[in-house]
Amino acid sequence: MLLHIVADQPDRISTLRMLLGSQCCVSSSLLRKENNVPKNCDAAIVSVCLRDADNITALKELATKFKGAKRKIFILDQKARLSAAQAYALGATHVLFNPVTGRSLLSLLAERNPVEPADDAACQGARGAASAGAASLALMFSAVLKGQPVDVADARTAAFRISDCVAEEGLSDWLVTVRRHHEGTYQHCLLVTGTAVAFGLHLGLTEVDMERLYSAAMFHDIGKAKIPLAVLDKPGRLEPGERALIETHPAAGHAILKGTRGISAEILHAVRHHHEYLDGSGYPDALCADSISDLVRILTIADIFAALIEFRQYRPAMPRAQAYDILCNMHGKLEAPLVKAFKEVALNR
Ligand SMILES: [Fe+2]
Ligand SMILES: [Fe+2]
Repeated sequence: MLLHIVADQPDRISTLRMLLGSQCCVSSSLLRKENNVPKNCDAAIVSVCLRDADNITALKELATKFKGAKRKIFILDQKARLSAAQAYALGATHVLFNPVTGRSLLSLLAERNPVEPADDAACQGARGAASAGAASLALMFSAVLKGQPVDVADARTAAFRISDCVAEEGLSDWLVTVRRHHEGTYQHCLLVTGTAVAFGLHLGLTEVDMERLYSAAMFHDIGKAKIPLAVLDKPGRLEPGERALIETHPAAGHAILKGTRGISAEILHAVRHHHEYLDGSGYPDALCADSISDLVRILTIADIFAALIEFRQYRPAMPRAQAYDILCNMHGKLEAPLVKAFKEVALNR
C-alpha cells in the first residue's frame, strides 16, 4: 500500500511515519514547501492546522494531485465541528482527531481498504455522487457554523445527482459505496438521501414529490451542525442531558432554514418533524398521525433504516434484513402500509 503524508510541520510527518511503522510504503511532503505527491497513491494522510487560511488555500491547490487516492484521511487537532466540516469540504473521506494511535490509523486503512474495481463505471458513478454529496453537506454545515446562508442550490444539485445515481445503479451500490468512503453525519445524510430516493421511486412518486423528498433528506439533519461532535459521535449509551441535546436538532434545523430562499414549507415541515411518530411519542412537538405529512412518513422510515445500517468505527453495520425487522416491530409509530411497501427497498432494491 502506497501512502502519502502531507503535513504543515516536519514533526507531524515524523510522528505519523513512526505510527505507520514499516508495514506501508510511505512518502511525505511539507505543505507550502514541497508539492511532490506521487501518482496513484492508495491513501493520503493530511495532518495540517485548518485554522490557518494559507494552509487551506495550499491544500486546495494540492487536492487535485491526490484526487485519485481512495482514502483521504485528515487528522485534526481539535474535535470541532467546523474543522471537520472544513476537512470534508477539502475532500476528506475520513476525519480522525489527535491523539491518533498507530493502531487506529492502521486498522482504518486495513479494515476499510476496499477491493476496488477501479474501472467499474457504476462504482465510479456512485463514488463521484457520494463525494459531491459529502462536499455539499460539509459546505452546508460550515455555513451554519459561520452564521452564513446555506447554499440551497448546491445541496439540491448534489441531491439530484444522488437521485440519478440510485435510479441508474440501484440502492445496494449506493449503500456499499457510501459506507466505504464516508462516515458520521455526512455518511448518515447520504444514506438517508439514497434510501429515500429508492423508496420514492418504488412508490412511484411524481417528479415534483421526488424533488421534495430528496431535498428534505439532504437537509433533514442540518440542525446537527449545532451539536458538539463529542456528543453526536459518542459510542455507547448517552446520558439524559446528552440525549436531550441531540433531540434539539430538528427544531434547530427548522430555525436555521426558516426564511431561506428556495426552502419550501414542505421541506421545513420535514426538517422539523422527521423524528415524530404517528402515536405522538416522537419529538420535538409530539405530533400525531393527522399532523404528519406523507413526505415526513416516508422520510422517517428512510431515516431510521439508514441510521441502523450505518458503518461506525465502534460497531459493525447492521444487515439490511435485521434493520427492516426493527421497522416492522415499531408498531403504531410508522405507517404500516408504507413499512410493508418498504420491504422491497430494504431487502432487494
Ligand atoms: Fe434527525
Ligand atoms: Fe437523520
